[in-house]
Parts: sequence; structure tokens; C-alpha cells
Amino acid sequence: MSKIATLDIDGHKFELPFIVGSENEGAVDISKLRDISGVITIDPGYKNSGSCKSEVTFLDGELGILRYRGYSIEDLADRAHFLEVSYLVIFGELPTAEQLNQFENDIRKHTLVNEEMKNIIDGFPKTAHPMGVLSALTSALTAFNPKSVNVENEKEMYEAVCKTMGKFLVIATWTYRKSMGYPLNYYDNTKGYVENFMRLMFELPTGPYQADPIVINALDKLFILHADHEQNCSTSTVRMVGSSHAGLFASISAGVSALWGPLHGGANQAVLEMLEEIHKDGGDTEKYLMKAKDKNDPFRLMGFGHRVYKNFDPRARIIKKAADEVLTTLGVEDPILEIAKKLEVAALDDEYFKTRSLYPNVDFYSGIIYRALGIPTDMFTVMFAIGRLPGWIAQWKEMRENKEPIGRPRQVYVGYPLREFVETDKR
Ligand code: SDX
Repeated sequence: MSKIATLDIDGHKFELPFIVGSENEGAVDISKLRDISGVITIDPGYKNSGSCKSEVTFLDGELGILRYRGYSIEDLADRAHFLEVSYLVIFGELPTAEQLNQFENDIRKHTLVNEEMKNIIDGFPKTAHPMGVLSALTSALTAFNPKSVNVENEKEMYEAVCKTMGKFLVIATWTYRKSMGYPLNYYDNTKGYVENFMRLMFELPTGPYQADPIVINALDKLFILHADHEQNCSTSTVRMVGSSHAGLFASISAGVSALWGPLHGGANQAVLEMLEEIHKDGGDTEKYLMKAKDKNDPFRLMGFGHRVYKNFDPRARIIKKAADEVLTTLGVEDPILEIAKKLEVAALDDEYFKTRSLYPNVDFYSGIIYRALGIPTDMFTVMFAIGRLPGWIAQWKEMRENKEPIGRPRQVYVGYPLREFVETDKR
């Protein structure tokens, strides 16, 4: 028997469908609310509002659970590889060896970026933030691949997926090469996806580049941990832009811009900058905890808190362990890691953070590993974008395949009532 929710407004009762998800999450379906009652709901920041039903990712913020297509993040980080997880997130099933091989080969068909794209990146100053360059280049891909705008069938969708996975990685590394004044590298189809990332970033014409397998494994794991996270700010942006039937590149470009914000993906860069400031300031973590708790101080403890996780972010646990392993294996002594750990212990024991359920999130430790791997700080959020790409694609694909309506929220108007127009000389 289907459940209903009853809304009582001034004695008028309105019955609304009540739906329950596969993990027993309950939701009141208000899609007909205005039709039957004349009123709408309002929920700034959508803290209590679901935008869609999705089969891609499940997370439980109270229990600190994260699963992609039903597989736990712990299992996937431990036992799978990034392209394998990308296939799972996008197409819904773990690939057979043959399917994975085919997917990687189909991506390789699209790893050459149109040479004229170099004219676009040439127009940016070296000082341009990589995320701004990446968003622009991603949108520009539409100009050179117009067919991937109107994705109307499975074949076109698959080609758009492979094209995006292939070209996005290359242009993401071009943002770094541009900032360094280095020549832009090409993807090597004889090498793996994550190994290519390191080559594209660091190989110079002056000699061969051999990526350290430890680094490749660490990056592979980090990309897996970032692959999707249900309806976060940037993914919701990708869905919203895609809902107008703008193409995949344009939608991903908008997602890159949303991710850039320091409250979202930009936090991984902000965490490192914060830790470096604390280090420079003598490592006085107590002083910065006080600043974070002071309502008159705009300072926030970057990398702490989460809209959904009111417990440990499961990704932060895995990344913290990986940070220890990578730095030890690479023989890197980083005082910043010690400051991060000191800050974490102090915050987790502090009433302000405990009462607000503020725990380290995915961004708190990731920057420490990126830094140990030689990735510059202003590229940290680009790393997040590379990891999140399969999730953005998967959610966009699901939205289009489900033929979801164009996103167009309502509002409650609180401005002036009707006013008479006043000529200029009478104002
Ligand atoms: C990501 O949504 C996702 O899934 C995102 C993400 C993904 O994978 O896509 O997980 C990636 O974006 C992780 C979050 C990275 N951002 C940061 O680390 C920035 C620092 N954190 C915050 O700004 C904040 O915690 C948010 C933005 C993450 C969440 O903000 P909310 O849910 O809107 O909560 P809020 O701002 O209303 O805070 C509630 C209370 C407030 O205090 P009171 O008004 O109740 O007294 O907690 C306080 C806030 O002031 N608070 C913090 C804090 N975060 C929240 N105080 C100090 N430091 C912080 N970091």
C-alpha cells in the first residue's frame, strides 16, 4: 500500500505521495503540491530537498557510508582502479576485463585534442587560475566536437562519454603546463590513464619521464575517492545545465566552475593555504581553532564540516591513511601533515566542533598527498575535477536518459507591490 503524507494548512488537508528509496530514505513527493494547494515550499541551499531519484551513489551522512552503484568506497578504493570505477559509476556495473579493455581503447580514440584549442589557451595569462582555464577549455571542446551536444541515443552517449574522459584529462594538464610556460604534451595511447596524467603534467622535451608506480597508485586511489558524491553543488550544476539540453561539455564546464568555490572543491587548495599559514605562524593550532569558532571572524577551518556527513567522511579516513603511507614510502617529511593531525585531534575534542558535527572531509588531507606527489597547490581542485568527471558524466547521463524536465525552481517574492512609473524629472 503506497504511503501518503498529509499537509494541513489552516485546516485544509492535502495528501501527498510519500516515497521510500532502496536504502529506506523517505521523501514527500511535492511535484503536485502547487497544483493541489496553491503553495510551494522554500529551502535555501536545498538542505532538505531532493532534486531527483538516482541509482548512482548512496551516502549516509550519519553513519559515514559511501557506495557507488552499491559497492562500498572502501572496497573500491582498495580493490579497483580508476577507469574500472569510472565504468561502474557511468554504466552501472563493474566491467568484465574485456569491457574495461574496450572502454580504455574507446577513450584512446579521443585523446587527441584539436590543435586549434592551443590558440585558446595561448590567450590566457600564465597567472590565470587553472580552474578558470579548465572551465573555458571544456566549454570550447563543444566548438570542435559539435556532435556531442545533441546526444539522443545510446551510441552518441557512449561516444560523448569516451570523448569527455579522453579530452578532459589532457586539457586539465594543459592548465598546469601553461602556468609553467612548458610545451603542451600529448596523451600516449600505449600507457594507462593515470600514468598518462603524470606524463602529461611532468614530461619535458629534455628527456624521458618515468612515473613512480607508488605515485600512480596513490593518484588512482584519490581519483576513485572523488568519482561521485550524489547531488553536491557541482553535480547539481551539471544536472541543471544539462536539463536545458545544453551539451555534455557545456554542462561539465559549468560543473568545473561550481567546484572551484572554496566552500566546495576549492577547499582542498584552501586547506593547504590554511595549514601553511598556521605553519608560518609558528604552528599555533589553538589560535586558529579560536578564530574558526569566533562568529566575528570570517575564518573557517577549511576541510572541516560537510552538508551531509555529520560523522567522519569515509573518504577522509582512507585519504588520511594513504597520506601516511605515501609520505613514508616516498620518504617525505612534511610538517604540514603533523599540523593537520594536531588540528584534527584538537577540533574533534572541541565542543564547538562536536556540537555541530564538524569532522574532517575529503578535502582535509587530499592536498597533503598531492603536495607530496609534486602537484602544485593551485592544481589541487583540478585534481578533484579529474576524479569527479565520471560522476558528473554519470549523473548527466542519468538525467538525460530519465528525460527529466528542465530545472526551474520557484521562489517566494518579497519585493515591492505594483508601483506607478515615475518620469525622470519627478524622481
Ligand atoms: C566538498 O556536498 C558534497 O558532497 C561536497 C563534497 C563532494 O564530494 O562533492 O563532499 C566536497 O565540498 C567538501 C566540503 C569542502 N568545504 C570545506 O571544507 C569548507 C569548510 N566547510 C564549510 O564551509 C561548511 O562546513 C560546508 C560548506 C562544507 C557545509 O556548510 P553547511 O552545511 O551549509 O553548514 P553551515 O555553513 O550552515 O554550518 C553549520 C554551523 C555554522 O555555525 P552556527 O551558525 O550553527 O553557529 O557550523 C559552522 C557554521 O559556522 N561551520 C563551521 C565550519 N563549517 C561549518 N565553523 C568553522 N569551520 C568550519 N569549517
